[in-house]
Amino acid sequence: MSNERRDDDLDFSNILPNFASLQKEENKRQLGFDPKKIYIVMKLLEGKTAIITGAARGIGKALALKFAQEGANIAFTDLNIDENAQNTEKEIAAFGVKVKGYASNAANFEETHTIVNQILADFGSIDILVNNAGITKDGLMMRMTEAQWDAVLTVNLKSAFNFIHACTPIMAKQRKGSIINMSSVVGVHGNAGQCNYSASKAGMIGLAKSIAQEMGSRGIRANAIAPGFIITAMTDQLSDAVKEEWCKKIPLRRGGTPEDIAEVATFLASDMSQYVTGQVIQVDGGMNM
Ligand SMILES: NC(=O)c1ccc[n+]([C@@H]2O[C@H](COP(=O)([O-])OP(=O)(O)OC[C@H]3O[C@@H](n4cnc5c(N)ncnc54)[C@H](O)[C@@H]3O)[C@@H](O)[C@H]2O)c1
Repeated sequence: MSNERRDDDLDFSNILPNFASLQKEENKRQLGFDPKKIYIVMKLLEGKTAIITGAARGIGKALALKFAQEGANIAFTDLNIDENAQNTEKEIAAFGVKVKGYASNAANFEETHTIVNQILADFGSIDILVNNAGITKDGLMMRMTEAQWDAVLTVNLKSAFNFIHACTPIMAKQRKGSIINMSSVVGVHGNAGQCNYSASKAGMIGLAKSIAQEMGSRGIRANAIAPGFIITAMTDQLSDAVKEEWCKKIPLRRGGTPEDIAEVATFLASDMSQYVTGQVIQVDGGMNM
């Protein structure tokens, strides 16, 4: 009786919401194992260091938190390490891993090389790179300015080149590394009003596939994630009517969460995907098949 009470007192609702009921002794006996132990051994990224760009908020932040939960040390970048980014740093640190936020414009080639060298000196290795920083500057082609085109291509695509250029020599020396480019379903399928953004996201897919071919023999894998409609600050500007229309087109009938993307990114970052490279995984509730 007293044992049973102690197990019921354990609260796994934060980390394993669906497993909470399995903590009951009777259910554990039926299963033949203790679900708590599953969580303990699922440190999928233990001992790895991850760089995630643009991770002070949104999808990048969700990845940083999930990777930290899985045991990875986290070096994240964003334009400024302001109060919000410092709070992100604290939330990541709560998982007991090493973490540091670096102020950097991912679009700047020189700055990226300086930051990557600093991260290597601070952390000792670079095992995972997520090129996540991204912006939109939407408009129809007829009205699109050169500045709109250049800004989106530079921040979204050139930034991925910058970080891959700086990190792959380090990963090649280690003979291991997993690179994840945050693309988009519009990079696969296109989207009216987003020719700059779609082109940048299609470019990230070509970049990942080419790196997969170039660097596979050095133990480096490169894949792309193509999120669909994910609810973050980037999509929050859309009206409720537009959001409802999007959701009607999604077989799973909801917008995605940053955590939905983080789950797939964890798989690609971990050794569970050690024979997966050059792939694009759409995480879009089935919106585009
Ligand atoms: N939200 C979606 O529905 C969706 C869908 C598909 C793809 N994506 C992609 O996922 C990634 C993250 O999107 P999000 O929704 O979390 O966006 P977000 O705007 O919430 O976060 C983007 C982060 O990148 C940072 N950033 C912007 N420019 C930068 C630069 N030059 N250098 C460093 N950091 C910079 C921002 O400060 C911000 O913290 C983006 O690449 C985006 O294109 C998002």
